Parts: sequence; C-alpha cells; structure tokens
Amino acid sequence: MHALDIIQGEHRSLLRIANSMDAVADAIEAGTPVEDGFFTALFEYAHEFMGGCHHAKEDEYLFAAMRARVPEKMELLSRQMEHEHVLGVERLKTLQQLHHALTSPSETTKPADPQTAFLSALRNYTVMLRKHLLVEDEELLPLAREALLPEDWAAINAAFENNDAPLFEAQATARYDQLYHMITSVAPEPVDLGASRIGEFSPARELPRSKTPLLEVRDLESCYGRIKALNGLNILVHEGELVALIGANGAGKTTFLRTLSGVQPLAGGSIRFAGQDISRLRADRRVRAGICHSPEGRQVFGPLTIEDNLRLGAYALPGKTNASELERVYEMFPILHEKRHLSAGTLSGGQQQMLAIGRALMGSPRLLLLDEPSMGLAPLLVEEVFNVIRTLRQQGMTILLVEQNAFAALGIADRAYVLETGHIVLSGTGQALREDETVRAAYLGV
Ligand SMILES: Nc1ncnc2c1ncn2[C@@H]1O[C@H](COP(=O)(O)OP(=O)(O)OP(=O)(O)O)[C@@H](O)[C@H]1O
Ligand SMILES: [Mg+2]
Repeated sequence: MHALDIIQGEHRSLLRIANSMDAVADAIEAGTPVEDGFFTALFEYAHEFMGGCHHAKEDEYLFAAMRARVPEKMELLSRQMEHEHVLGVERLKTLQQLHHALTSPSETTKPADPQTAFLSALRNYTVMLRKHLLVEDEELLPLAREALLPEDWAAINAAFENNDAPLFEAQATARYDQLYHMITSVAPEPVDLGASRIGEFSPARELPRSKTPLLEVRDLESCYGRIKALNGLNILVHEGELVALIGANGAGKTTFLRTLSGVQPLAGGSIRFAGQDISRLRADRRVRAGICHSPEGRQVFGPLTIEDNLRLGAYALPGKTNASELERVYEMFPILHEKRHLSAGTLSGGQQQMLAIGRALMGSPRLLLLDEPSMGLAPLLVEEVFNVIRTLRQQGMTILLVEQNAFAALGIADRAYVLETGHIVLSGTGQALREDETVRAAYLGV
C-alpha cells in the first residue's frame, strides 16, 4: 500500500498549492503587487502535476481497481472524483485565461472587472480543490485500504512509484525544479507553501571530500572594547564540507564570521586558511584568498542596480568582474538576471537574500560564509534558500553556515558546532547534534 503514502504526500502538495493561491489572493486584495510570472508558473505547475501525473494515475489504476472490487460502494464515488478531475482541468484553464485577461493590456475580451473576476475564480478553484481532496482522503482512501487486495496494490504501487516526481518530492525532475524556482523566486512575501521539508533533508551521507582542513581556527579571541565576545574558539572546516554554527542570540556567531573575513579585529589565537596564516591579513586580501562573506541582514545596496551589487562582490579581485561568475550567478538565480537593471531596493526580502548570496559568489569563494541567510523570510523562501545552500554544497563548495534555524541547518550540515557566549560547547555531525538531548531542548524546541 505504498501508493497510499505517495498519494497522500501528493495531496499535501496540492493543499500547499491551494494555500498559496489563497494567500496570494489575500495579498492582491490587500494591495500587494504580485508578479505575473508567479501565477503563470504556478498554474503551469498545477497543470503538469495534476494532469500529467497525479490524476491520470488515480483514474487509471486506483479508481478502476476499486470499481472492480467494490462496485456497489465505488461506482458513484469514483465517477464523481473522475468528473472533478476533468472539471478541475477546465477550471484551471479558465483561471489561466482570466489571469491573461488581467495582465495583458492588449486583451480585448476582458471581463468588466478583471481583478474581481480572477480572484473569485481563484477562490472558487481552491474551494473545489480542498473539497475534492477531503472526500478522497476521508472516504475513498480508507475504503481502498480495506477493499483492495495485494495484487491490486502491486499494480497501483508500481504506477505511483514510477511517478513523474512532483515538485515537492526529493526526486523532482529538472522541469519541476525550474517551475518551482520560478514560483519561489517571484512569490510575494506572505506566501507560505509550508516548509515541512525543512529539516527532513537527508543528512549528507558522503564523507567530506578531503581530510585537509581548509580553515583552521585556534584559540580565537575577539573583543568589543574590554568585553570579550569570542573566548578561545577552535573550529575546523575541511575542503568540501558544509559546517553549521548554531547558538542563541548574542553568542558571538556574527562576530566570529566577521573576524574570519577580517572586518573585526582578532585579539588572540590564529586563523589558518589553505595552509597560510591569515590572522593579520587585510579583509580585501582575504577575499582574494577566497573567503567570501554574505553578511547578516543581507546589506545589499538599495539604490544601486542588482548587477552593480553583484559586481561589488568581485571588487577586491585583481581582474574585477569576472563575466563567467556573473553568468553563473544569473544561471542560479534567474530572477536576478531578469531584474538586473533595477535597483536592489525593489527586490523582496527573499530576492535580496539571493542577491546577498550571489554577491558573495562573485568573489569565487573557496570558503563561503553565510550569516543567517534564512532570517526573516517566509517559510517557502526559507526552503528555497536551503535548497540553494544544499546545491552549492553538492557542487563542491566549502560552506560555513550560521543559522538561527538550527533544525534546518543541522539537517543539511556535515558537521556543526554549538556556540555559547563566545566559546564552543558542543560539536559533532549534524545528525548527531540533532539527536542530542541538550541541543534538542535548547535549540530545537523539542
Ligand atoms: N558593535 C558591537 N559593540 C559592542 N558589543 C557588540 C557589538 N556587536 C556585538 N556585540 C556583543 O557581542 C556579543 C556577540 O554578538 P554577535 O552579534 O556576534 O552574536 P550573534 O551570535 O551573531 O547573535 P544573533 O543571533 O543575535 O545574530 C553580544 O554580547 C553582543 O552584544
Ligand atoms: Mg548574528
């Protein structure tokens, strides 16, 4: 009955779509501008996901088997569900047309009030979708569990296991990935597709690619006046590792990253990077050496264009802007490319975070320092930021990640350190720390 789990998982994804449609309808009514690309991608995704993979398989395998086993109970119910599948596709098409009428100035067949027409169709659609899912989950699937035989399940399981990976599942295809990226990068702030996958990332299983420490921090101290903010820190980061640093407010996480990148003076101890002692090296020299920092609070330059913000990331490099790096950043964040001539201040919080990461990537990092990249973002965007970090790690980048979202950070980290008032109190693999009782109580809220 494995297919049942898959179907229920897909239903949860569909509910997230319904939730996000409702949230965006609310946002539009409240006057928040929503980019056209958001709906275009969302509708396309819904079309492909439901039409191309979910519904067809339910109709062909699940409902058909149920009608064969329990015709008296199933005939009506499954026909109703099938009918709603067809209806759903039609309504989605209508929605796309209404959206087109709303957004294309040249459209001649506009309804009198295109926005109201679109929003009310959108709300009707989500009502229908929720109802449909409720009936399936509460009536149809329990019946299936009871009535179907192992040989029925064999065929149904095979069909669903072979699914064209929906957007939210681990094996999402490139096509879904692309749509997903589009949806998340243009989603308005209040949207929440739910971030249940955060923290469920499978822990990085491979061992670090190399045993050579890229970064070796010994007995590091740093002070603000007479107050010691870092009190003898020892941290190692190996080549290719993703290391997380978690800790409460004021523990010294930001101070540590600033000391590494050379903008905060070091009062004691040493920092070795790629075999060199860089403890006394100037900040711009450290960027040249490959230590690139995406700071807390993003700190993008609002009045400058997005492209100029990115170019600043390469400022300390001898050849200045590296065209291929710029291309790589745009490839990773298509929304930045699309908006490259606009001022950075026009970007949403999530997009500014992408810009801050993109700017750090412009320095061709050997070690990427990320200070609370998920701070203040809606859950959907948090998920996207973590996807980006995971992707960078998979591409072989060495990353030191400071996060308030400890659960998610430990979920993707190879190893992690826990910092308390200026010193390390615990370290271990991300997985081990996630299972550690004190960490769970102090940082995971469980
Ligand atoms: N510019 C400053 N002047 C004086 N003290 C500072 C300064 N910046 C930070 N501190 C102090 O140093 C300690 C460490 O601060 P830091 O910002 O590094 O913590 P953090 O772990 O990054 O916290 P958060 O989770 O809030 O970002 C805190 O006690 C803080 O009050
Ligand atoms: Mg901080």
